Amino acid sequence: MGYQKNISTNDRKHVGDATLALNGKDVSLPVYAGTLGPDVIDIGTLYKASGTFTFDQGFMSTASCESKITFIDGEKGILLHRGYAIEDLARHCSFLEVAFLLLHGELPTTEELATYDNTITHHTMLHEQLQYFFRGFRRDAHPMAIMVGVVGALSAFYHDSLDMQDPAQRLVCCDRLIAKMPTIAAMTYRYSRGLPFVYPKNKLGYTENFLHMMFSMPTDDFEINPVIAKALDRIFILHADHEQNASTSTVRLAASTGANPFACISSGITALWGPSHGGANEAVLKMLDRIGHKDNIRAFVEKVKNRDEKLMGFGHRVYKNHDPRATVLRESAHEVLGQLGVNDPFLDMAMEMERIALEDEFFIERKLFPNVDFYSGIILRAMNIPTSMFTVLFALARTTGWVAQWLEMIDDPRFKIGRPRQLYTGYPHRPFPRER
Ligand code: SDX
Repeated sequence: MGYQKNISTNDRKHVGDATLALNGKDVSLPVYAGTLGPDVIDIGTLYKASGTFTFDQGFMSTASCESKITFIDGEKGILLHRGYAIEDLARHCSFLEVAFLLLHGELPTTEELATYDNTITHHTMLHEQLQYFFRGFRRDAHPMAIMVGVVGALSAFYHDSLDMQDPAQRLVCCDRLIAKMPTIAAMTYRYSRGLPFVYPKNKLGYTENFLHMMFSMPTDDFEINPVIAKALDRIFILHADHEQNASTSTVRLAASTGANPFACISSGITALWGPSHGGANEAVLKMLDRIGHKDNIRAFVEKVKNRDEKLMGFGHRVYKNHDPRATVLRESAHEVLGQLGVNDPFLDMAMEMERIALEDEFFIERKLFPNVDFYSGIILRAMNIPTSMFTVLFALARTTGWVAQWLEMIDDPRFKIGRPRQLYTGYPHRPFPRER
């Protein structure tokens, strides 16, 4: 289905050359400018010209690709998706509108959104056999472990959309993944609780359907709380995409080999699970639980400063200012808990933790601010979503960004298999010992 629109035609601009004096030779490397953000030095020819690699552990100064999807200005705390500020998208759009925007480059018209909504809705069911994958797990398996397995297994069921040379099949894959993640996520929750799986209902919207599959009971009618549905839809928007973070880079690297998108997204889920990345929202709640009370915060902060603890939900590789998502989530936390009549001491603790940290030289000089994970868990907890499901919901939302970045890469005729090199500091060649 031809959703593809004329995505912005800006391309990189050659703005000059950098000269590297190396081993008595001058190596000239082209410098490119994008629309926004730092220029880049294209080092693609460096090794051939000089026999030298660059070295950038953790990719502190490395751009891995060209992209038109998301822009982050870490110094100013700016996040744009296809040029629109995250604050505006969170305030004015639904998650599906943002999904369409990320994938196709423009906000959908009313008709396009209706068509897209209908397409996604009709992909929410899972092949009936897939439920047997769940039954192979222990009931106390971490939901992320189940999600990694089940999403990877999707490629065993959907053979008709695995020809990545076919643009239509690529789009079907994206639609299937975005549509089925809520179903799989809800099933991981139901399975862990020993509850029957709940089928999606086509009359419900994307996020309402997820809540229905999570919490409805066959014994009663299920009322969807509009406050929760709206707040969760906004949380999905805030987690949808974030440039070339660790999990997105994992998806791109897997995709660069031509692996099928289901396997690539499964690799992204794996990378997201780490506590330094998407697992931080779960880690924040565990940290607040260990601190126990507002009065213990200052002692905890001292432990952080002594390197005995990390302040989970704080700090970011790119944001050296407020993470704009955390700002929206802090406001949303007050709004949602107020509307739900939830009085959670964790919210007061989080606010006090932020106040103390942002006045402390240790955090100020390291430019450590709350990130997207600091407040999200407090809202999810108010919705009776268990802590173990927090990263599952992050993966549900981020699937949209992952598939958009995957599609952008696959559509780029210049993409190549990703194959980084290394600085080798192991043994030089040595003779094999005769006597063994
Ligand atoms: C996400 O990349 C993305 O975009 C990710 C994400 C997305 O949407 O995809 O935004 C989602 O992953 C958000 C981050 C969630 N993780 C956490 O909240 C875990 C806690 N944060 C840290 O682990 C850390 O801040 C990272 C991993 C997020 C960033 O690490 P960096 O960029 O490698 O920072 P660093 O380790 O170089 O830190 C610089 C200094 C160090 O101190 P010094 O050794 O220089 O004295 O700040 C310190 C760090 O020790 N520091 C912290 C800290 N984060 C950094 N000290 C205490 N608590 C922290 N949280």
